[in-house]
Amino acid sequence: NSGSLVVIVGPMYSGKTSELISFIEIYTLGKKKIKVFKPKIDYRYNNTQIVSHSKSAVDAIAITKPKEILTYLQGNENAVFIDEVQFLDETLREVVLQMIESGIDVYCAGLDLSFKANPFIVTALLMAHADNIIKKKAVCHECGEYRGTLTYKFVGNGDEIDIGGFDKYIAVCRDCYLKLKQKN
Ligand code: ADP
Ligand code: TMP
Ligand code: MG
Ligand code: ZN
Repeated sequence: NSGSLVVIVGPMYSGKTSELISFIEIYTLGKKKIKVFKPKIDYRYNNTQIVSHSKSAVDAIAITKPKEILTYLQGNENAVFIDEVQFLDETLREVVLQMIESGIDVYCAGLDLSFKANPFIVTALLMAHADNIIKKKAVCHECGEYRGTLTYKFVGNGDEIDIGGFDKYIAVCRDCYLKLKQKN
């Protein structure tokens, strides 16, 4: 049987990593064979773990290129989990399809949009192939409503790849995003 693809998206702080960790827990409780990956670029906290903003953590293998994932597989995996997919290149699509076709359930988490509200193409490609897309929301940092679908960057350069947390980014709703953009 083929595996299925679940893609978890949303702005920063929306609980993508936490959701990924809950799925990891389900497979672990069921004594399933799993592997967890993350891009090496994200050096936040720890290079060998995925870590949520609420500080829960799971061991992970840091990779640079999507193809590396296949070299770590032993052929008996039930599921593969990948966090921060927006930092991997578009060949992730082929690698993920190959895993699903060989019967592995794949769970991917990542940003759907940059702080400029441009789609991350690799995430969009994965969403197109997904069996299930989980779109998470954050609490808007400006108005407090549970409608945060965008990320606003309040310092630094215009670089759309820029590791950071509360030092640079807040989650906001669409109205607050537009207001902040008009002000600055
Ligand atoms: P993501 O991977 O999407 O950035 P995480 O799973 O790492 O999200 O973090 C989610 C956690 O972040 C929440 O459980 C909460 O404790 C915390 N948090 C901080 N700021 C916010 C916010 N504005 N909205 C929701 N959760 C927030
Ligand atoms: P998070 O979604 O788990 O909070 O992590 C998102 C990471 O992506 C964080 O290191 C900041 C970074 N980032 C960018 O590089 N570009 C962006 O446009 C945004 C919004 C975040
Ligand atoms: Mg995360
Ligand atoms: Zn708001």
